[in-house]
Amino acid sequence: MPRHISNSPDIRSIIAARASRRGFLLGSGATLGAVAAGGFVGSFFSGEAVALDARSSLAFTELKRIYDATHHVAEGYSADVVVAWGDPMAAGLGAFDPAANDPEGQARRFGYNCDYIAFMPLPKGSANSDHGLLCVNNEYVSFNVMYPDRPDDDQGASRLTEAEIRTNNMAIGHSIVEVRLEDGRWRVVEDSPLNRRITLETPMAISGPAAGHPWMRTSYDPEGRMVRGTNYNCGGGVTPWGTVLSCEEGASDTFGGDIAATPFPDMLERYGFDGSDYYGRARIDGRFNVEKEPNEPNRFDWVVEIDPYDPTSTPVKRTALGRMAHEAATVVLNGDGRVVVYMGDDDYFEYVYRFVSDGRYDPADPASGRDILDSGTLSVARFNEDGTVDWLPLVHGQGPLTAENGFADQAEVLLKTRLAADALGATPMDRPEDMETNPVTGRVYALMTKNKKMTADKLNAVNTRPENLWGHIVELVPPGGEGAAADHAADRYGWDLFVLAGNPKVPEHGARFHPATSENGWFVCPDNLTFDPRGRMFVATDGANDFGIADGIYGVDTTGPARGLPKLLFACPIGAEAAGPCFTPDGRTLFVSVQHPAEDSATLAEATTRWPDFREGGVPRPAVVAIRRIDGGEVAA
Ligand code: FEO
Ligand code: CA
Ligand code: CA
Ligand code: CA
Repeated sequence: MPRHISNSPDIRSIIAARASRRGFLLGSGATLGAVAAGGFVGSFFSGEAVALDARSSLAFTELKRIYDATHHVAEGYSADVVVAWGDPMAAGLGAFDPAANDPEGQARRFGYNCDYIAFMPLPKGSANSDHGLLCVNNEYVSFNVMYPDRPDDDQGASRLTEAEIRTNNMAIGHSIVEVRLEDGRWRVVEDSPLNRRITLETPMAISGPAAGHPWMRTSYDPEGRMVRGTNYNCGGGVTPWGTVLSCEEGASDTFGGDIAATPFPDMLERYGFDGSDYYGRARIDGRFNVEKEPNEPNRFDWVVEIDPYDPTSTPVKRTALGRMAHEAATVVLNGDGRVVVYMGDDDYFEYVYRFVSDGRYDPADPASGRDILDSGTLSVARFNEDGTVDWLPLVHGQGPLTAENGFADQAEVLLKTRLAADALGATPMDRPEDMETNPVTGRVYALMTKNKKMTADKLNAVNTRPENLWGHIVELVPPGGEGAAADHAADRYGWDLFVLAGNPKVPEHGARFHPATSENGWFVCPDNLTFDPRGRMFVATDGANDFGIADGIYGVDTTGPARGLPKLLFACPIGAEAAGPCFTPDGRTLFVSVQHPAEDSATLAEATTRWPDFREGGVPRPAVVAIRRIDGGEVAA
C-alpha cells in the first residue's frame, strides 16, 4: 500500500484500547441492525463454535497459523520463488548485487515490491499453463530495507542520494518476464526478447476524454498526450484481447512543492497531494515539483493498458476509466459484448466504480478491443439500505455534473472523478481494494481492507463497524442470472455482506465468518483476490502483522454449505503482505506476490527477515512465489 495510507505507528495501541473498552455491546447491537438491513446471510455468526457439517470444497489440509522469518504453505504443496527484485531480465547481466545497483542495471532487472500478477499464456491466444509471461506490477520502494541507514521517515528519505533516487525510479512500474514450467518448477527465461521493464521513465500515451486537456499539458508534453512513466502500480486486470491493465494507486506523496500555488489546489487536495516528496524525486527532477510543473500530477492515478506480447508497444493511460487511487481494474465481457471494468479507489471513505464500454467486443476480431476503453460510461456505487446498489453515471451535463458546479466538460468530470462522485452521493467505503467476478456465479466481490478512521456517526448500510481495523468483503449480485447470464451493465444490482473479517473469538471485533472457521482460518485486512477455475475465492491479506499473525492466502467457498468458510493456504514472512494472486488457466499454479518483506524494520541493520536469500547482512527481496501441489494436481481440488 502507498505510504500515505499506511498504518500509523500507534495502531497497536488503538487495537489495545478497543479491546479494553467497555460498552462495546452497544456498538455490536448497532452493527447487527445495519447488517440485518443489508440482508446479511442468516447462517453467519460471530463468537462460539457451532457444530455444523460444513465441508469445504477446498481439498487441502489447512496450514497451521505461523508467523516467522520465512514463508509457509499447506502440507503437500510447494511454494518456490520464481523471480525476485534484482533478478536479471536480459542475458549477461550476472547475479544481483544490491550495493552495486544503478539506474541502468535496475532498468533491466526485476522491479521492487511486486503486486498484481497476470499470467499471459504463450503463444498468445492459447491456454497454455506451462509457458507464458508473468506481468507484474512493482508498486513502490521500501528504502528502509534497500539501503543501509535510511529509516522509513522523512530523515531517511532526505538521506537518499541522487543515484539512489534515480535507481528507485527504475525499480517501480511493471515487469514482464517469460517463464516456463520444467520438472514442477517455474524458471525465468533470462534472455527472452519479450522480457520488458516499464518504469517511471517509460514513454506512454494518454487517451480518452482527458487526453489533450489543458490541465494535462506540460513543458515535456505541450499536447497533453504523452507522459513519462507510471507510478504506484498496484492492482490490475486482463482484457479479453490479451492486454494487461495496470492501476496507478495514488501519486500524492511523490510530488514536492506548494499545492496552493497551483491553479487547482482543491482538486489536488481531494487527491491527497501535500507536497511531501517522500521519495526525493522533486529534489532531483523539476517535473515532480508542482510549482514548476503544476499539471504533472494530473497525468498520474489512471489505468494503464500494456500489450505484453509486443515489447515495442507504447502503454496507454485510459482516462475514461477515471482518476483515483486505482486498486483494481477487473474486466468482464458482458453477454451483450460490452466491456465492463470494476474498480476500487483505495483510500479512506472512497468509492467503488464501474466502467461500461460504448462499443462491443468481438472475440473473433481481437482488434475490436483496441481502443474500446476510450469511450463508455463510468459510474459510482450507491449502496442502499434495502439491499440494492445503484450505479450512478459520471456523465457531464447529467444531474449536478455541470459547468456551474465546476465540471466544464467530461474531461473535467474525469480529472475530478472523486469530486464528481461526491456530488452524486456515492457511498463512502472502508478503503476499497480489489474487486473480482466469480467466473462461475457471475457475482462480484469488493474487498474493503479496513478503515481506522470510521466513526459511529459515519456508518452506513454496507460499512457497519466503527474503527474498522479488520476489513470486510461485499458481494454484489448483478441481475439476469448466474454466470454468463449476469448483466454487468445493469443500473441496479443486489448486495450482501459476504464476510466481516477479524478474529471470531474476540467479540469486540464483530467478525462474521462461517461458524466452522478454525483458529487458523480467520483473516483480517482482505486486499486482493482471485478465483480458481472452479469459482473458489482466494483472498490475499495486507495488515495482519498488526494482530501478531502473518499475512497470507486464504481459500474461501462462495457457494454451498461452506459459503464464507476460509482456510489458510499460505503464510508470508514477517513484514510482507500477500498480493496479486493469479492462477494459470489449468488451476495448477497459484502465483503470489510477497511484497515488502521486513518493511517493519527500523533500518536494514535490524531487518526482521532477510527473505528469501537469508545471506548474512543481505537485503530482503520482494518476490513472486509459485504455489503448486507436489503431485502436480489442481490446487485445492
Ligand atoms: Fe497498493 Fe491499495 O494497495
Ligand atoms: Ca493494502
Ligand atoms: Ca493492495
Ligand atoms: Ca485480483
